[in-house]
Amino acid sequence: MNVHVLENEEAIGQAAGDLFCALVRQKPAAVLGLATGISPVPSYRRMIAQYAAGKVSFAQAITFNLDEYCDLPREHKNSFFSFMQRELFSQTDFLPEHINFLDGNTADEFAESERYRLAIEAAGGIDLQLLGIGRNGHIGFNEPAENFTVEAYKTALTASTIAANSLYFDDIPMPHYAMTMGVDSILRAKRLILIATGSSKADAVKAMLEGEVTPRCPASALRRHTDVTVYLDPAAAALLRK
Ligand code: PGA
Repeated sequence: MNVHVLENEEAIGQAAGDLFCALVRQKPAAVLGLATGISPVPSYRRMIAQYAAGKVSFAQAITFNLDEYCDLPREHKNSFFSFMQRELFSQTDFLPEHINFLDGNTADEFAESERYRLAIEAAGGIDLQLLGIGRNGHIGFNEPAENFTVEAYKTALTASTIAANSLYFDDIPMPHYAMTMGVDSILRAKRLILIATGSSKADAVKAMLEGEVTPRCPASALRRHTDVTVYLDPAAAALLRK
């Protein structure tokens, strides 16, 4: 893995956002794997700034988001669909018909998983996937488990994830389930970027990069991929040996 320690979130957002912009300039109909959370926001700001400056257009790009809450209307402000509208899509020229999400309100999670797998395959696969990492080492909503997961599925969120995300839910209780792409489907992306900032991620970053490859740390699966770039700030990198 290519590990870069940059001075702060802004420098990381610039570097990661520029990788997305460079890809889309070179391949306008690129397939982008996108993520929610605090970590990707500076990258999205950079993409918005490059779009506003006329340096890139996302009008042909296709997006697939990693995950979505279950039992939450898509229009609710805390859905990942709403998050992406706010933080990226509404401020750029991504076309609604090119934007793809798992349906967290599906009545048939298996059919929904298959629909998503086929849609990604039909688009030619994900060219560049953006990831954050949970404090427990999760990627997407793949929580520590006995086995690595495969395709998209419905998962129960762990107490650690609920604690980390429930502060955003000020009107209704946070959902306890989500639909998420599985680890194998994430690893099918041609290229991946993982961003981690802050000391709360330092243990997970160390486990991902220096621990064993184990489903107890889902992010460690990235070590099986040949093209992963990891951007860390000094706090997230603090426990690394080298
Ligand atoms: P964060 O979430 O970027 O909000 O820290 C990352 C994650 O939980 O995957």
